[in-house]
Amino acid sequence: MRVITLKEVDSTNLYAKNNLHVLEDRTIVHALSQTSGRGRLTRKWIDFGQGNLFVSFVLKPSSNFDEKYSNLTQYLSVVLAKVLENYGLDPKIKWPNDVLINGKKIAGILSETVMQGSNFKGLVLGIGVNLNATTEKVKLVEDKPVTALNLEIGEIISSDKFLNELADEFFENYDEFLQKGFEFIKSDYISRTSFLDTEVCVQGFNDTKKGIAKGITDSGELILEDDDKQFVLTIGDILC
Ligand code: BTN
Repeated sequence: MRVITLKEVDSTNLYAKNNLHVLEDRTIVHALSQTSGRGRLTRKWIDFGQGNLFVSFVLKPSSNFDEKYSNLTQYLSVVLAKVLENYGLDPKIKWPNDVLINGKKIAGILSETVMQGSNFKGLVLGIGVNLNATTEKVKLVEDKPVTALNLEIGEIISSDKFLNELADEFFENYDEFLQKGFEFIKSDYISRTSFLDTEVCVQGFNDTKKGIAKGITDSGELILEDDDKQFVLTIGDILC
């Protein structure tokens, strides 16, 4: 594992994608500040200032895409939850990969696949973790409640220490995850969710669906039930 630290970048994901051809497998691109952070479903990721975490894992697990790679964001959400538990917190995962503390989002995860024509070149798995922010700044995010680790535990957080903890936890089981896929983390994932058997609304690219979250498939999809009809959702974001 190699870490490249940049003082400032538009987006660690964009940097990693643009430089993928010269970056080795398992390189971590780490930025101290990010001016144009990218989020899921075309959202932006806000930089709350010094001491927050912006990283992208460069992963080149094989020369062909494997469906298991789609679950890497869920794998990373479990990894992050375990790291946060070591800070004495009780993180919850909201499908597919949001990590919440006391109902507030603390991190965002965005995976981007890099192709050259029809050839798979690798993946860029980005994560932003709010480590150090003020209550005023987190309130500026309008669409959902947001928190930061320092606000939850009342201490300034070392971003270098946190990055080491996250990277160690990530690579500890990464090879086994690549072999076994979502089933390997399914129980760890489900035990940290809080939305199952509740009514949720899920935003997709073009529409929003409402229903009862009935379960998670062996491939990490969400089973939603509405008027006795079941839908299996692969992409989306639980909004409420
Ligand atoms: C989300 O919408 O919840 C995902 C946000 C992902 C943000 C991280 S910050 C590091 C990496 N670089 C980016 O531009 N985005 C991801």
